Amino acid sequence: MNPVKFYLVTDTHYFEPSLGASGKAFEDYMKKEQFFMLESSDIVKATFEKIAADDTVDLVLIPGDLSKNGEYESHKSFVKELNRLKEAGKKVFVLTAGHDYGEKSRAFVNDERIEVDGTPFKELREIYADFGYSQALAVDEATLSYISEIAPGVRLLAVNCDSEGNPKGKVDERLEGWIKIQLDEAKKDGCSVVAMCHYPMIPSVPVFDLVGDAKLKDWRRTASFLADNGVELILTGHMHIQSINEYVSENNNKIFDICTACLVGSPAKYRKIIIDGDALNVESINVPDFGVDTKGLTLQEHFDNQFAYSIRNRILDALNGGKGAAKALKGFGKKVLSDITLGGLGRILWIRVDDSIKKTKFIDFAGNLGVAIFKGDMPYSTDTPEGKAIAKVLKRFRFIIKKVEPKLSKNGVKVDLADMLLNTIYNNKGFSDNNAKLKLK
Ligand SMILES: [Fe+2]
Ligand SMILES: [Fe+2]
Repeated sequence: MNPVKFYLVTDTHYFEPSLGASGKAFEDYMKKEQFFMLESSDIVKATFEKIAADDTVDLVLIPGDLSKNGEYESHKSFVKELNRLKEAGKKVFVLTAGHDYGEKSRAFVNDERIEVDGTPFKELREIYADFGYSQALAVDEATLSYISEIAPGVRLLAVNCDSEGNPKGKVDERLEGWIKIQLDEAKKDGCSVVAMCHYPMIPSVPVFDLVGDAKLKDWRRTASFLADNGVELILTGHMHIQSINEYVSENNNKIFDICTACLVGSPAKYRKIIIDGDALNVESINVPDFGVDTKGLTLQEHFDNQFAYSIRNRILDALNGGKGAAKALKGFGKKVLSDITLGGLGRILWIRVDDSIKKTKFIDFAGNLGVAIFKGDMPYSTDTPEGKAIAKVLKRFRFIIKKVEPKLSKNGVKVDLADMLLNTIYNNKGFSDNNAKLKLK
């Protein structure tokens, strides 16, 4: 069989700029936004142009959150960009997700946030007819999941876990039943199946297992179900993070989950993937120059700056509000948190912090750590100053952690919080989250 090659782009969050994205309300909104909303259309255009120019790959897969927030005009403009890919000879398969429909569509005009026309879920099938649905072998009308042939002997199972037809972020029993029929059919026809789903199936980093919306609900069940029915690869998005994870079912069947970042915000990457026999080759590519003035920064630094800025603002904003003494206490906490260095924090906790990071402000460290986690390939083993400091903090709070852990454990799966956190800041999986050569069965 010929190698299967495709581009994987996700969470394009395309916003039609003529709807309006300026003024005071917009600036306030951007204080807590990871990605570039106004520039999203330019980023998509520049990326698609690069993809269109690559004659060696004719497939593009996009697993959801196509628009910023379901604005009808954003979908219309995004389809024009997809049509350009089509004209360049690419076959494009999309999934829609929670940010593609509903009544939360907004723009920013004259210093205010205004409502704009959204998109009903039911209309998405028609809007994206040429990018999955019209070519499909079968469509699950309730969720707009579908299965389609993407190469000779290879089918794409597009599982819509974020629709009006199922509980959010879950492959329920009804949808699982529909999938089983498609997988049996594929097996009967001698076809292999690659899956695509908006939510990460496997938590991207270990602590995401504790975050409700960060992965599929009951993910071990779905992972085992897919792996035991012959699916070895699932392509996901939603968490705006670069990660590759593997899961082995009780029947010893393995499945990889390749979760890709948001295209229009840090780390601003997309992927080129080649399946050649049992070799799965994953390459991550930076978003190309899209004509923005980065004021002397590299393009990556420009993206990272916005993300770190939004994380710092979110942390400090958590200390806003309250009344009377509580307000004063929160205000004091906010001041301390804005100014304190890691060395200062270490002194309070009776922890020695390495000289190389002692003068770093805690708030900058937290912002940069957040940005780094979403890039994948976290480097902080307990041999690094950062890893050492975090391990010491965890040790200092061991007493509290041991009390909390039983409350976090679910379905008989025990939680080791310290282990989870240390493996979140250090990738010891044996393969990269970004550029990996993996082995299928
Ligand atoms: Fe998203
Ligand atoms: Fe999402």
